[in-house]
Amino acid sequence: METSVAPDPLSIRRLYGRQKGHPLRARAADLVENLLPRLDVPREGPLDARRLFGDERELALEVGFGRGEHLAFQAARAPSMGFIGAEPYLNGVAGLLGDIDRLGLANVRLYRGDALDILERLAPGTLSAVYVLHPDPWPKARHAKRRFINPGPVGLIQSRMKPGGILRIATDHPLYCRHVLSIMQHQPAFTWLAEGPEDWEAVPEDWPETRFARKARGLGHQVWRLAYRRSEG
Ligand SMILES: C[S@@+](CC[C@H](N)C(=O)[O-])C[C@H]1O[C@@H](n2cnc3c(N)ncnc32)[C@H](O)[C@@H]1O
Repeated sequence: METSVAPDPLSIRRLYGRQKGHPLRARAADLVENLLPRLDVPREGPLDARRLFGDERELALEVGFGRGEHLAFQAARAPSMGFIGAEPYLNGVAGLLGDIDRLGLANVRLYRGDALDILERLAPGTLSAVYVLHPDPWPKARHAKRRFINPGPVGLIQSRMKPGGILRIATDHPLYCRHVLSIMQHQPAFTWLAEGPEDWEAVPEDWPETRFARKARGLGHQVWRLAYRRSEG
């Protein structure tokens, strides 16, 4: 029987986009070789705060952190929380390692790969915050199933979040913004925390610009910042 539901990244399970850029400088290569293995999320088995950090701290996940400036900011701001970052792009991972080293952050764990691998293995009701900032927009309709914000991943995020947890999504792509709004509209477990344009146009002081947000601003593009609360039920 034919189904009208398009497959999404959960059923595709294939990472698109580049995983390496220019060759790493010596310092970055050294951090990848020596610091990354100490912060690596285990590749197999269930994940929770105790396994990752040795205690019961609150957890946050950033999907596709890019160069990692937002993740470093959040981790420095909340040293008692644990931050997990998933990003396949090695040069971005190396950039974040530089910040972790410079700022002496002890509360970050990194996964060089697909955030879905992490979400699937996390215990339900674990995450206090999830950040999906400027996900690849895949603007062509035939690529819509590659977008991270789709029913499969969002359902997984929902089940891994604590009641009351916050999901933040940013995009500077008008089509992706509409896509997110329409997907999230059908997610009754999430409430959009916006009353008017000032809410999605404002830049909260705890929401620093990522590289892609800065690039978008430089080009004169609008950036939409969408925040959702996971319902208590
Ligand atoms: C457009 S970039 C945005 C990077 C960063 N969040 C920013 O705002 O500057 C999207 C990032 O998501 C990463 N990405 C794509 N699919 C992913 C997935 N399934 N899991 C983790 N990261 C992913 C890409 O490697 C890329 O670095």
